[in-house]
Amino acid sequence: MNSTDRFVVGYEQSALDVGVKLPVSIDFSVVPHLLIVAPSGSGKTHLLMLILKQLAQRDGKLILADFKGVDFIDLENCQQYYRHQNVAQALQFVFDELQNRMSHLRTTYRSLYFVVDEWSGFLSLYPKKEQETYKQQLASTLMLGRGVSIFVIVALQRADAVYLCGRDNFGNCIGLGSLSKESISMTFSEYKDLIVPKQRGHGYLQTDGKPLREIVVPKIRKPEKVMEIIKLALGEMESL
Ligand SMILES: Nc1ncnc2c1ncn2[C@@H]1O[C@H](COP(=O)(O)OP(=O)(O)O)[C@@H](O)[C@H]1O
Ligand SMILES: [Mg+2]
Repeated sequence: MNSTDRFVVGYEQSALDVGVKLPVSIDFSVVPHLLIVAPSGSGKTHLLMLILKQLAQRDGKLILADFKGVDFIDLENCQQYYRHQNVAQALQFVFDELQNRMSHLRTTYRSLYFVVDEWSGFLSLYPKKEQETYKQQLASTLMLGRGVSIFVIVALQRADAVYLCGRDNFGNCIGLGSLSKESISMTFSEYKDLIVPKQRGHGYLQTDGKPLREIVVPKIRKPEKVMEIIKLALGEMESL
């Protein structure tokens, strides 16, 4: 595990209220994996870009699986970018790598970050039986990944048992915008009475073992530059 498994997801609302910009970060080496839940247009892909930019500047390996295949279209020639039905290949790659690492256990690994945008959209392409297989592969990766430095970031519109085998294996959950009742009870059950509808880019972070935090995701000032940084990280040719 690696001290660089830490990244910023926004600013703390309570500090902004008194004029202070206090970054809020997640550290996968302490609490692994991140689930991002938000209705369409509430800022999931935007937040993923911010996170990808930071991870791209670390020495880990990034895999981006983008079901919609529109927002990240600039990345289409990158080796580690998988769009639309190819999300299944990305999942298989990560699952094989998990098994490989599990069967040749070492003490340190280069971190592997598996980022999936619109997971539920991807699953809805398939009949139930295949859906179960993919859900199971994701669940195993969540459960076993941390020990071998494989970390998962999943974004979807609604948290629902149909799409996830529980949310317990996600140590971090972010909800943005106006969340549905089901999403609130699945992701923020402990705090469900505190969650109120928010505007785009505003929401909550729940990290296991920490109190609920209100966060504001900043605007990306130079999106083209951010995309260039991500592109470089996803295009690298060297093997694991
Ligand atoms: N925190 C933010 N600050 C400024 N603009 C944002 C923020 N989050 C999202 N946006 C903008 O809002 C639009 C919708 O965001 P997007 O990330 O595509 O939503 P989603 O992926 O949840 O559908 C995009 O044009 C995006 O650039
Ligand atoms: Mg999106």
